[in-house]
Amino acid sequence: GKATAEDGTVYVSHKWTSPLENEDLLANDCSTCHSDLKAEVAEIQAHQEERVQAISKKIEQLANTMTDQVAAGTLAGDKLAQCQKLHRNAQFYWDFVMVENGDGAHNSKLSDETLDKSEKAVDEALALLA
Ligand code: HEC
Repeated sequence: GKATAEDGTVYVSHKWTSPLENEDLLANDCSTCHSDLKAEVAEIQAHQEERVQAISKKIEQLANTMTDQVAAGTLAGDKLAQCQKLHRNAQFYWDFVMVENGDGAHNSKLSDETLDKSEKAVDEALALLA
């Protein structure tokens, strides 16, 4: 967007930042439709953060259970391969959401759907090992 330098020169700014850091944009553009965008985004991000934490605990539990059962000799062969695949899928979908960096703000529907896939895979593996 256009920016004004200290000496009054108007130039095109290429500074990239979250729109939440840009009070001008929030007040003059986003606010046309979002009465409180910061609160809206905070709510989306809190929801996603909670899910990311909960699913990461399950993935950790899965990895530990698999390690224990392999060591005890009760997990091997096809069942082990199936659990490894489910673990990879759960981790992959979880990572996808983690690295996106918007904590769900850019596309909360996609983040939620991706976390659903991660949770489904980890739950399925945990059920197999129960
Ligand atoms: C013309 C109306 C309009 C304007 C202007 C507008 N938005 Fe939106 N925005 C929407 C609508 C509609 C939604 C979808 C709301 C929903 O699905 O609940 C949305 C959703 C969002 C979301 C949530 C995305 C998600 O996946 O949940 C964010 C973040 C957002 N807008 C940011 C902005 C920012 C930043 C600006 C200013 C640069 C802006 N919006 C300007 C209409 C607008």
